[in-house]
Amino acid sequence: MTHAPSWRVLAASLFLVLGAGSATAQDKAPDAPSRGPGHAAIASANFLATHAGFEVLGKGGNAFDAAVAVSSTLAVVEQQSSGIGGGFMALLHRASDNSNTFLDARETAPKAVDMKDYIGKNGKPNRDASTRGPLSAGIPGEPAGLVWMAEHYGKLPLSESLAPAIRIAKEGFQPDARFLNTIAEHKDTLLRWPASAAVLLPGGKPPEQGWTLKQPDLAKTLERIAAKGRDGFYKGETAKLLLSSTRKAGGKWTTADLDGYTVKERQPLSVDYKGYRIVTAPPPSSGGVAIAEVLNILAGYDLTKLDAAHSLHYTIEAMRRAFRDHNEYLGDPDFVKMPLDMLLSKHYADGLRATIAPDKATPSELLPPAMAPEPGMHTTHFSVIDADGNMVASTLTVNLEFGSGFIAAGTGVVLNDEMDDFALVPGQPNAYGLRDSWANAPEPGKRMLSSMSPSFVFGADRTAIIGSPGGSTIITQVLEGILAFIDGKNAAQIVAQKRYHHQYLPDRVDVEPGAFDDATAKALTAMGHVLKDRSPWGFMNVVTWDHRTNTLDAASDPRRPSGLGKVQ
Ligand code: GLY
Repeated sequence: MTHAPSWRVLAASLFLVLGAGSATAQDKAPDAPSRGPGHAAIASANFLATHAGFEVLGKGGNAFDAAVAVSSTLAVVEQQSSGIGGGFMALLHRASDNSNTFLDARETAPKAVDMKDYIGKNGKPNRDASTRGPLSAGIPGEPAGLVWMAEHYGKLPLSESLAPAIRIAKEGFQPDARFLNTIAEHKDTLLRWPASAAVLLPGGKPPEQGWTLKQPDLAKTLERIAAKGRDGFYKGETAKLLLSSTRKAGGKWTTADLDGYTVKERQPLSVDYKGYRIVTAPPPSSGGVAIAEVLNILAGYDLTKLDAAHSLHYTIEAMRRAFRDHNEYLGDPDFVKMPLDMLLSKHYADGLRATIAPDKATPSELLPPAMAPEPGMHTTHFSVIDADGNMVASTLTVNLEFGSGFIAAGTGVVLNDEMDDFALVPGQPNAYGLRDSWANAPEPGKRMLSSMSPSFVFGADRTAIIGSPGGSTIITQVLEGILAFIDGKNAAQIVAQKRYHHQYLPDRVDVEPGAFDDATAKALTAMGHVLKDRSPWGFMNVVTWDHRTNTLDAASDPRRPSGLGKVQ
């Protein structure tokens, strides 16, 4: 850490000399079209969830009601990625007053959180405690977030917007191959807790293709939320079941933790780039800040005039610098002060750009150090637009696949393992290899830093609703999607595009096979970039709207066959 102060002093003085002026957070989106498209589009990672959204639109609901239906259905049919035992971050665009807002339904640390619980006897991080069982679970935010969205933005009662999820939980559905493989992969974890095994391992074994998964306990939990709103989860029967099962298994949640959970509505970040306005996630997501920083750096180049290798080189160098700042500065805005004006300033980006050599990779160890196994493909994202032009970009998660692996007995709820997104041992990598600082250390009631980056891109002629799962790669995948949209690509082209990722540490470029042709890969290697093939990637769900022809496109990532993008 000996170099860190000098970097901070340098960055801060550069900022003071050049002045703050370009932090562009605002709540109006003047570039959003004033009329709606007259029809609707939804793209999600599961066709049942996309259909649920359209079912609710058909009953007179708006995009926000549809988002409640899609989210709750994903909690039933894609519970390895998200669910009501987890949290979400969503960007909402309300057409009637052309406003954007950010709904933060991120999990929080319980009051009794103790960093010692996550350190093993050898002083090293105890990954079992931080990723498995109730100690790894933050207080869920998704139920409160869905109730908030319905009550403040929707038109329908929860009994209608939660109806498809309740029906599918009761009647059952046939999980796809990916769901079944994920159960098989996590069999040993699921067997540790009887309620998890009872739901997902019939007869103690991973189920086979053709199996119907019925979830009566989850249906009852959703029914209690439909009837009583947030009290249906955070108080009464559900709370009693959550507390008794987590405490029996070594968790530390209390009545006050559940009762005290609050949704936060925050001002989104926005950044202007090449004639487009990108509206994106503020902290406690790190995604928007990093995306804005990269775009501000890239604004100084005309990427269209560069060969592929140089265009990629500058983008990778911008990613490296943005992730360094991510690790150094970011955390829950209700707990830590962050130099956002500086990080979002065009002048700060000018300074960072000046440190990029045109033909040479900057080794990450030469940047001032900041307090990264493989980035995983967990989490889920969906995009919605309704006929009036209301929009939702929502990214939802239980963190790693099946979260903590712990289903709270009697509730059917898979609890998240979001505590691992804190810097439980600052400077040590988490599951995504991110090494955050004290800004992201756990404290009672604090939200853990996220990479979730739901975003809107508003241009004079076109709009995009975009986001992705993927742990730390969420940020770079969304960034690459935004750049592709600005280059003129539509939803289907954006989701199919091959991807790459650099996160400062480890110092390498993760590359989807086929993303770079041989000559480009050779040129990047000659500049000093270390390229490493990596899969899987995805799974993006994007909606685009061409205002000139009033065409909507909705596309689900081809890497996940069960997804569905639909226009109707
Ligand atoms: N749990 C992944 C994220 O929030 O970034």
